[in-house]
Amino acid sequence: MKRYAAIAGTGAYLPETVLTNFDLEKMVDTSDEWIRQRTGIVERRIADADVATSDLSVHASRLAIKNAHIDPIDIEMILVATVTPDTVFPSTACYVQQGIGAKNASAMDISAACAGFLYGLDLANGLIISGQYNTILVVGGEVFNNIVDWEDRNTCVLFGDGAGAAIVQATEEPKGILASYIGSDGDYADINLLGIPAGGSRMPVTSDALDKNLNKIQMNGREVFKLGVRLMPEAAQRVLRKAEMSIDDIDLLIPHQANLRIIEAVGDRLGVPREKVYVNVDKYGNTSAATVIIALDEAIRQGHAKPGDLVLLVTFGAGLTWGSTLLRL
Ligand code: UT7
Repeated sequence: MKRYAAIAGTGAYLPETVLTNFDLEKMVDTSDEWIRQRTGIVERRIADADVATSDLSVHASRLAIKNAHIDPIDIEMILVATVTPDTVFPSTACYVQQGIGAKNASAMDISAACAGFLYGLDLANGLIISGQYNTILVVGGEVFNNIVDWEDRNTCVLFGDGAGAAIVQATEEPKGILASYIGSDGDYADINLLGIPAGGSRMPVTSDALDKNLNKIQMNGREVFKLGVRLMPEAAQRVLRKAEMSIDDIDLLIPHQANLRIIEAVGDRLGVPREKVYVNVDKYGNTSAATVIIALDEAIRQGHAKPGDLVLLVTFGAGLTWGSTLLRL
């Protein structure tokens, strides 16, 4: 019998503290009007100082486990996509394992920036359809507020904290992940395009690096914008071709929630009507690896994505990395 990897349950967790555009007006030279017009973001959530990525991820994972009606001991692997791990090592996935009591799982992190969650789904899909695993927890979680330079108006208005999780499980029904594709292009692994220069083996965190804020996000927003608008439609079309489906078959498109203008451009290039394009960037900003799974969970909870619906997820991020997943819920 052919095996498929189904999404058995999802969960999401956003910290309670809301940081509005008006709050940001008091911190940097910006305005609510500029942020709304250029990004579509109205507010974002910020984790408390003592909260780490695994804390948000554990909350989201518990909800996914509950919604999938499974026991944590049934989970065989935990994949946590993040660029804001609790520590360089041990992995955030190990802290999540401890937090949810998934004693029988192996655990590791995925570093693929904003595309990380779909990298996780792609891996889970391969491991499940090959028969090697039956139940995998895939998480996208970030606490960005520690890596944002709160004095840099070019970046600090864009990001937020949050986590989402999915239980991916083997099934013989033809549903779940129908097609998946991930890609990357290391020619764009330029720290000034999008990245954090200090804190790795190339540049340790010295007092000089700290003075220059090199342990915080650096980004060329305009270039990243153009790449996202080009790469996401290409990735989405690729999974449609793989599954031999047309864009008209799609019930819901969930693009990476980085900027409303990018989201709308991707939808327009693909020819998806606006009412089928999911948007929550206004409420949470860009939560990096967590955006698409937070959005999928919210769409399911609010009835925008129902059992049987065809959902197309698409992301891109630093690296460059990108990915797309076609799901039958
Ligand atoms: O997950 C992927 C992560 N990153 C992204 O997806 C980011 C992609 N890029 C973007 O979303 C957009 O490029 C931005 C929102 C970052 C910027 O929008 P833009 O329309 O590309 O603006 P720009 O960078 O061309 O800047 C236009 C002006 C500049 O002023 P001058 O040089 O024209 O005088 C900026 O200094 O807007 C200024 N500016 C701001 N003004 C008020 C930049 N940030 C702000 C701000 N408030 N927060």
